[in-house]
Amino acid sequence: MNGLHLKSETEESSRWIPGYDFDLWTSSEESSDGEEGTYHENSQTEENAGHGRTIPRDADTSHLSDKALKRLDRFEKIKRWKKERRKDRQEMRRQEKAVKKDLVEIQFASDKPTKRELKCQILAKLEALQKSDSVPKICIDMGLANLMNSKEVDRLAGQIRRVYGSNRQAARPLHLTFSNLETTGAIYKACQNKNDGFAHYRVNMTNSSHLEIFPPEKIIYLTPDSDSVLMSLEDDRVYVLGGLVDESPNKNHTLRLAEHQGLATARLPIDEYLQQANTGSFNKILSINQIFDILLTFYETKDWAVALLAGIPKRKGFIAR
Ligand SMILES: C[S@@+](CC[C@H](N)C(=O)[O-])C[C@H]1O[C@@H](n2cnc3c(N)ncnc32)[C@H](O)[C@@H]1O
Repeated sequence: MNGLHLKSETEESSRWIPGYDFDLWTSSEESSDGEEGTYHENSQTEENAGHGRTIPRDADTSHLSDKALKRLDRFEKIKRWKKERRKDRQEMRRQEKAVKKDLVEIQFASDKPTKRELKCQILAKLEALQKSDSVPKICIDMGLANLMNSKEVDRLAGQIRRVYGSNRQAARPLHLTFSNLETTGAIYKACQNKNDGFAHYRVNMTNSSHLEIFPPEKIIYLTPDSDSVLMSLEDDRVYVLGGLVDESPNKNHTLRLAEHQGLATARLPIDEYLQQANTGSFNKILSINQIFDILLTFYETKDWAVALLAGIPKRKGFIAR
């Protein structure tokens, strides 16, 4: 049963007032469990019109003296004041939290670059890289259109788009050149038709041969048919990929071409780092975007097993040694 122990001025013992669930002497400042003035909604109060006091509606106060009533009234005022103070504090805390959240959001929004700013940053990074001498150079030989039909040329254009996209997104991009690229040729036209903004790629595009723009002794032509194995990427070297979509084995196109041009050749170290699983095509001839992704990953991780496993499609059936 709810009620209130109230000390009368003449008695040492407290009195019980129905309708209260507070002991005036223990809860006027702090309740016994340390909670500040616990307020119970069920102890209904109203302004006592006659005395301007606030006492519970269901409290029987007929037996109380004026002094006890005043004390009771003070108790109710304190209780009400504490409730209001608690509400104020809660509201203040809520507002502080909201302001802090807004500040964090404003700061975050101002730190985060817009899409446009991000694009500008990437392009500026690629432009700076294209002028750098301390990054390995990858050159795609775009002069092999006569070895492909128009479907293959279109597929090559798609692979070129992926190469450029990978380089843009790479943590450590590579210097990129498209050599033997005639603006009137089938490959240029296919790239322009299929790849948005191709003419503005941050890439060194030239109709000159890689033999003319790079020192031949620095060039290594990558070909799946080479006897030499590529083990590292050197900053002062140029690695040429044949711009070919032609996966039929043993054609030796790029090997013969490189040998004719007197260039060093190398294949990827697939046999050295991977072995064949139970099933797969086990085809070691990769597309130029796959080769490029492997080179990017190796340049970043310096780990051939990681780079090869990440870049070679699962269906080829290679697993780590
Ligand atoms: C689809 S392959 C073309 C294969 C073609 N039969 C040839 O003679 O080069 C496209 C290019 O990717 C590179 N490539 C593909 N697989 C390679 C490998 N395992 N090692 C080195 N380069 C590779 C070569 O530069 C190659 O010219």
